[in-house]
Amino acid sequence: MTDIRFNGRVAIITGAGNGLGKDYALELARRGAKIVVNDLGGSGSGQGESHNAADLVVEEIRDAGGEAVANYDSVSSREGGGAIVQTALDAFGKVDICINNAGFLRNGRFEDLTDQEIDAIINVHLKGAFYVAQPAFKVMRSNGYGRFLFTGSASAMFGHAWQANYAAAKGGLMGLSHIVAIEGSAYGITSNLMMPTAQSRLAAEMDAGFMEIPAFAQAVQSADYAASADRVEVPFNTPLVVYLVSEQCTSTHGIYSANSGRYAKVRIAAADGWVAPMGATPPSAEDIAAHFGQICDPAIYHEPLTVYDEFTAVAEAARRQSVI
Ligand code: NAI
Repeated sequence: MTDIRFNGRVAIITGAGNGLGKDYALELARRGAKIVVNDLGGSGSGQGESHNAADLVVEEIRDAGGEAVANYDSVSSREGGGAIVQTALDAFGKVDICINNAGFLRNGRFEDLTDQEIDAIINVHLKGAFYVAQPAFKVMRSNGYGRFLFTGSASAMFGHAWQANYAAAKGGLMGLSHIVAIEGSAYGITSNLMMPTAQSRLAAEMDAGFMEIPAFAQAVQSADYAASADRVEVPFNTPLVVYLVSEQCTSTHGIYSANSGRYAKVRIAAADGWVAPMGATPPSAEDIAAHFGQICDPAIYHEPLTVYDEFTAVAEAARRQSVI
């Protein structure tokens, strides 16, 4: 197997001053990429600012013989996103890879979340990804090459109590990545969503108040952690990220999970379902109730990659069920 190298490639990594982003930056630099280490330098709940976080990572990369520049802008504004991309252009002349990773947590009970707690989380995770990715996309499009990686979360794809704001933002990133993948396909640009799992400073933001929800507390307590000892760690996520943003990886429009050393594609799929008899008369709610088992039957699944693929899936189901 040939080594995965990034010589001549320029990577922006947001929130690269700590945790996952830092490890991605160090490993990509070790493999030859030139890195823009972006970090606002705040706390795990997004309070404060400092140059320290980004500067220390840049120093570590340079000490190891790599190339990196720091950027301290917040991803949460259009000006900040533009300035991050401009830093890459000023230092290295292009952008090949954009890993949208910056973020923080403000957990709370769903009905108690304030506008401030909702807006701050949507701004950093979802709007922040737009603000960085849009100018990066323009640069990649003009070069005919690009690799986007957006950072989703199992909280959004599978569920975690007391994270409605966070899951809504991370779920939005799935839609964003899908559309960047579709539009990017015309210009040599891929886009995927990464679902990392790691002990990081964000663990301190996980208020255990969510244990008040009985079914969720039961899920937390009864989960089997047998494969997870010493593996819910940052470096277990990095190999998947490095592969997904490499030239070798042509996968796009994907969702990938890293958890405890298990790497897996996560799929959005629709069941074959029940197809109502042909004709212009819609079925009744009672028809739906009568066929609900078939509507939910997991035996056959389709995985549409565009809105239009779903029409084809419907026709396939209709043929299988002898409706057409
Ligand atoms: P972390 O707190 O160690 O790193 C996040 C970095 O983002 C920090 O250095 C922070 O200063 C920076 N940041 C925050 N707001 C920023 C802004 N407005 N502009 C620029 N930088 C900003 O956390 P961790 O765990 O490394 O998280 C990285 C990403 O992975 C986040 O998006 C997080 O939501 C996501 N994630 C983490 C999981 C985990 O298990 N640690 C699970 C699922 C998703």
